Amino acid sequence: MRQRNVKNKKEIINNSKYIILNPSEYKNSWQSVFGNTNPIYIEIGMGKGDFILQNAIRYPNINFIGIEKYDSIIALAIKKIEKNELSNLRLVRMDALNILDVFSKEISKIYLNFSDPWPKDRHVKRRLTSDVFLSRYDKIFIDEPIIEFKTDNRGLFEYSLISFNNNGYVITEISLDLHHSNKDDNIMTEYERKFSMENHCIYYVKVQKNQ
Ligand SMILES: C[S@@+](CC[C@H](N)C(=O)[O-])C[C@H]1O[C@@H](n2cnc3c(N)ncnc32)[C@H](O)[C@@H]1O
Repeated sequence: MRQRNVKNKKEIINNSKYIILNPSEYKNSWQSVFGNTNPIYIEIGMGKGDFILQNAIRYPNINFIGIEKYDSIIALAIKKIEKNELSNLRLVRMDALNILDVFSKEISKIYLNFSDPWPKDRHVKRRLTSDVFLSRYDKIFIDEPIIEFKTDNRGLFEYSLISFNNNGYVITEISLDLHHSNKDDNIMTEYERKFSMENHCIYYVKVQKNQ
């Protein structure tokens, strides 16, 4: 994502009630953050936060955590989210590579939306659907792992289907043209809106692994 420098980003981050500044302290006790035992869904690479915000509004009985690597981007998400009063949403600024420092077996679903494609072979390991990440995700699921993935990038989609399969996942839902499918509960992300206005096809897959 192209980054616009956000003035006061540190201040915005440090003063938001939605941000968890010391996420590793909650490893194994994320339910205490929300004060209930509802399932926890995370979005990795949430960008400016539309998707996670709309999910939190639509599904009050699910707890959502949005993860984003960059200060400027998460500051923009905070500005948007702060306009709402939500007890089931929190944000974490971190690189998902460190996900095992932050979560134990406590996550019920992972969303990956329009993840950076990293097209060069030498960058394959940086893809959020590579073996490197999938093997870490394995360790944070409380029950059967479930991942929902959307992209407009056909190469990344094909790569990810193979990677999911190689890592023991089976497909439970798939669309090669999400916006012309009969899936009626889709929540759009910022990138999705932009790409669909440019008439890009949106690919979607939900995968699950039996443990
Ligand atoms: C192409 S943008 C998509 C944003 C949003 N999901 C959407 O669909 O509009 C990818 C986002 O993932 C974030 N990201 C990429 N790698 C990450 C990582 N390892 N950990 C956390 N965030 C990451 C980027 O900073 C960027 O904001």
